[in-house]
Amino acid sequence: MTTKGKRILLIIGGGIAAYKCLDMIRRLRERGHTVRTIMTKAAHEFVTPLSVGALTNERVFTDLFNLDDEREIGHIRLARDTDVVVVAPATADLIAKMAGGHANDLATAVLLATDKPIVVAPAMNPSMWQHPATQRNVAQIQNDGVEVVGPGIGEMAERGEAGVGRLVEVPELIAAIEQRLNPTKYESAKPLAGKHVLITSGPTHEPIDPVRYLANRSSGKQGHEIAAAAHRLGARVTLISGPVSLPEPNGINLVRVVTAAEMLEAVQQAMPADIAVFAAAVADWKLAKPKSEKIKKSSSGEPPALKLAENPDILKLIGHLTKARPTLVIGFAAETEDVIANARKKLKSKAADWIVANDVSPESGVMGGDRNTVHLVSRAGVESWPEMHKSEVAAQLMARAAETVSPRRTAAE
Ligand code: C5P
Repeated sequence: MTTKGKRILLIIGGGIAAYKCLDMIRRLRERGHTVRTIMTKAAHEFVTPLSVGALTNERVFTDLFNLDDEREIGHIRLARDTDVVVVAPATADLIAKMAGGHANDLATAVLLATDKPIVVAPAMNPSMWQHPATQRNVAQIQNDGVEVVGPGIGEMAERGEAGVGRLVEVPELIAAIEQRLNPTKYESAKPLAGKHVLITSGPTHEPIDPVRYLANRSSGKQGHEIAAAAHRLGARVTLISGPVSLPEPNGINLVRVVTAAEMLEAVQQAMPADIAVFAAAVADWKLAKPKSEKIKKSSSGEPPALKLAENPDILKLIGHLTKARPTLVIGFAAETEDVIANARKKLKSKAADWIVANDVSPESGVMGGDRNTVHLVSRAGVESWPEMHKSEVAAQLMARAAETVSPRRTAAE
């Protein structure tokens, strides 16, 4: 789907990744958009107004107090005569100014004056990105309604440096811009029509006896949101859920299960699928021999010894299928430490295409909460997404999945 003929105001910040904006401008124009640009003073060190102007075929705005500009188009009009404002690359300094509401140059004045959605693509050195001040500022602008895309992980311009801080790739930024421009149009294009998406969600309960069970704190919120997002994109959805107290999502086929063994059986019955998302927190162990009667306290006061047995690993079984394997197998990795390293291991051992890794340490508030911070780990690398509502993580994950399984029908076209 193409979101045709939109007006994009691109603020180019001063970073080595500014050169990628040239490619982005070309592609946005090919897609029918008009692109106006503001270059910060620092951006001039990396790209020239001449090349930006040649590609946009528009004049390039650079200085708040340029009287000619103000006569021709005041900064307030510049801020409003657009459908979206995009900041790329967004430096730590520019993000700090946005967070603080500064307006001492044209870029920041426009960002403060605009009443349109803002999409920000940060790019900076990993230490600058991880600094608590930057993280605070990013959280602040997100709270103010700004969408933050990336940064990605990888090699930095500085020799020998790698980590989180790279500008996201241009197609991904374009997809984010177009989705922001017209989310409902994106959904109404139904890029997953004709596809079967299978999702596991929630915890499993492994009986100890008829009244007791082993369980975990998974709420099922993330998995259920993924089911809803896949449905909005037109997929036929089978949601296989362990015991949760969540409303039943509309328009999907919900299969309720209790144990891991039941979940596996339901998954096998629901196959084949084009996309399989394993968001459930499946209990790794079950009781080797659950009792059929309630276990009584023993007269000696000795607690009973519970012998555990391993549950089937559903993701691993589906990931390793050689026949009728889903095109895209997505697993989750809930970790309390070494999130990315563990996710990478899981990608391999479970033969998944993507692992969505998240930190579920008690301080993160992810378990049971509404928000999530995830890293998308694939063979191509790692992308760290900013903290988002679980519904937004779900929407972006399914949009990416749609691009992968039916690329001709998605926003990136
Ligand atoms: O190994 P771990 O439990 O951390 O792996 C998490 C991923 O594997 C999740 O996607 C989860 O849904 C899936 N999984 C599974 N069956 C299991 C254990 C985990 O499908 N028995």
